[in-house]
Amino acid sequence: MSSNTSGFQLTPGHVYTASLSVAAVFSLLVMYDVAKTAVKRKYRRHRRSSLSASRPIREEEEEEDDDESEEEDETRSVAGESVISVDHHTKIRLGPDGRPVSGLQRDRLVVRDGRMSDTEINMHLSTLLDHLKERTRHHLGYPYNLSFRSDNLVPFLQYSVNNLGDPFVASNYGVHSRDFEIAVLDFFANIYQIPRDQYWGYCTCSGTEGNLLGILYGREKFMPKRDAVLYCSRDTHYSVPKAAAMYRMDLELIDSDETGEMIYADLERKLMRHPDRPALINVNVGTTVKGASDTVDEVLAVLKKLNIPRERFYNHVDGALSGVILPFVSSRCENKRISFDKPIDSVSVSGHKMLGTPMPSGIVITRLEHSKRWASDVEYLNSTDTTIMGSRNGQAAIAMWVALQRKGIDGLRADVVQCIDNAKYLKELLDGSGIKSWLNEFSTTVTFERPPEDVVQKWQLACKGDIAHAVVMPSVHKKKLRAFHHDFVEARQRGTEELPKDPRDTTLFTGGG
Ligand SMILES: Cc1ncc(COP(=O)(O)O)c(C=O)c1O
Repeated sequence: MSSNTSGFQLTPGHVYTASLSVAAVFSLLVMYDVAKTAVKRKYRRHRRSSLSASRPIREEEEEEDDDESEEEDETRSVAGESVISVDHHTKIRLGPDGRPVSGLQRDRLVVRDGRMSDTEINMHLSTLLDHLKERTRHHLGYPYNLSFRSDNLVPFLQYSVNNLGDPFVASNYGVHSRDFEIAVLDFFANIYQIPRDQYWGYCTCSGTEGNLLGILYGREKFMPKRDAVLYCSRDTHYSVPKAAAMYRMDLELIDSDETGEMIYADLERKLMRHPDRPALINVNVGTTVKGASDTVDEVLAVLKKLNIPRERFYNHVDGALSGVILPFVSSRCENKRISFDKPIDSVSVSGHKMLGTPMPSGIVITRLEHSKRWASDVEYLNSTDTTIMGSRNGQAAIAMWVALQRKGIDGLRADVVQCIDNAKYLKELLDGSGIKSWLNEFSTTVTFERPPEDVVQKWQLACKGDIAHAVVMPSVHKKKLRAFHHDFVEARQRGTEELPKDPRDTTLFTGGG
């Protein structure tokens, strides 16, 4: 203990309290300075963002956004990178290979030893939100329906909704949405004409998972030899050959015609190469690049012609995109109808494509007997292992159910009619400007010559060689198509790139995208 001349006694308690106060003031000053600098830097760039936005972006909003003033360009220049302008407030950085690099400043997102403040976390999320919002406005190339309402889904993010295991065998984990999942499956079983007591299925994380499941079940049908050959057209999505590689199956690629549809004479020739082995055939309903649909009745006719009995073949339908298009137009194409009244075995569909969900999703439906062959009980789950994944996204099942209920059969049909009409409209616009384009019947995928790179990047077009495509989804309206067409024609007139070949040159389309 010490004292001074005024008689004040400086106790250890005083020293301790004073040092705490100094430390606290110092930390506050440092925190304030860090936060102020960060807020200033970020807020300039993200003043338009709102983390509460969970509404779909409508076209009227796009107009409003376009009126806003130009943002500061903080893009750092990195060797070999270039920058293109998407519009007056958005730029995209392209890497040395010409591909877009993340505009999200990865180095600032590094997880360090200490925690990040909520303010800074929210600023980074805000950056991401801006990015997603802008990229959603300018999207045409991938078959994703970006128009949905997620307002009543938001409260479910407070829960870890996990439908682990078999949807029809409840596990001990109670935070699930199995009833909604089964309602979604019942809907698809109904449109694909299989009675409730004869199907099995589940809500997948995507169309790919459904393909992996369908092909696995197809291989298992021919136990114990598991010697089926997998047949698929050259226009098939890459997940199907991937399944062949994963399951160590022999693969026969069938030629397809200029529209992208399988050539059935070639299927017949290739089946005849393996007379002693069962056949697992992948039927495309909406190919990745050209949106073509194989004709299931033609496949069945080939099997019949070669006298291949039912127990020696398995047909999997990849309906990732058009699994929600064909059922609504099939009165005009009975021979393409997806129906379990025909000898098909499984169907896979993506939920985020034609239907539209705020996360990747999908369904797979199979005949019940196939799931029984594979099923094994898992004590830990108190459920049955029938699926590809263990934990499964219960939020996605709710989202699909909400999307289906909001539309109903009539709404889905209206979406299909609108998308086909709008796809024709885009084709007319392009043809009218001398840009060759291609559109299959019952499809919403318009293929055309590859536009200059700034147009490809702005509109996120999927390209294959000299060809690009736009997939006209329910989130794509005529106004957006006109804006795209305008950009395309303008860029073409600038002559920024050499004009490519005729899109109907099918040598450009080898394999799915
Ligand atoms: C024909 C086809 N099958 C399967 C898939 C894979 O679907 P997902 O992206 O949902 O995994 C796609 C994706 O575009 C596709 O076009």
